[in-house]
Amino acid sequence: MEKIDGIAWDDSGLRQGTAVIFIHGFPFNRSMWAPQIEALSGTYRVISYDVRGHGQSDVGYGQYSLEFFVDDLIAGMDHLKIESAVLCGLSMGGYIALRAAQRHADRLKGLILCDTKSEADSDEVKIKRATSIRAVKKDGVKSFAEGFVKNVLTEKTLLTKPNLAASVRKMIEANPPIGISGALLAMAARTDTTAALAGITVPTLILVGEEDKLTPPSVSEAMAKKIPHAVFHIIPEAAHLSNLENPAIFNEHLFTFLKSI
Ligand code: MLT
Repeated sequence: MEKIDGIAWDDSGLRQGTAVIFIHGFPFNRSMWAPQIEALSGTYRVISYDVRGHGQSDVGYGQYSLEFFVDDLIAGMDHLKIESAVLCGLSMGGYIALRAAQRHADRLKGLILCDTKSEADSDEVKIKRATSIRAVKKDGVKSFAEGFVKNVLTEKTLLTKPNLAASVRKMIEANPPIGISGALLAMAARTDTTAALAGITVPTLILVGEEDKLTPPSVSEAMAKKIPHAVFHIIPEAAHLSNLENPAIFNEHLFTFLKSI
């Protein structure tokens, strides 16, 4: 792990291979990409980092913006001397990747968007974010994590893979309340990147868990249709954390896509 401007980065795999940068969802950390990093590291340069306020990255005052999250990504790429990379973002990580694609198109070799969407928050979602911040302040991160885990995994995963559910809960619990609240505010205030989808020229892969309640397959498919030549796949037996719930199928699509670049 190396800290760059307060952000914790891991850089491993094949140094001379194409760089793939993994951006985690909210409110997790870079360890959520372990099955992908392990699978890809013999062939690609695999990089992951903790979004500000999460994992081992600095928390600061919690006044975040999606714009600053993109600044952190580009600062890390500059520091690691990565001119261009394939960005792979899940959910909030996808929001960051999409905004980076809009602001810094020249830094992208490809785009992998998992369980995410381009639309900004509706009023209803903004109000839910405020409710979550209140809950984190009042009841703490542990109770927030308990509810969140149930929303991001399938019922079957919760019943049959208790270790996976426990590790997801642990990832959430390890984040400080200021980091969680700051990320909620940043997501609520993010721009809508839908209008920019038609201008994405790099190869794009879109993956979504078949039971994803937060970004349902219909929303992902609609986004795929707006991106020229995007490839779209639904991951069976998975909800919002499709890379963790069905890593075999997820990684198969990842390899096929990366080989095609
Ligand atoms: C995520 O997984 O990153 C979040 O569910 C995204 C969101 O709350 O919009």
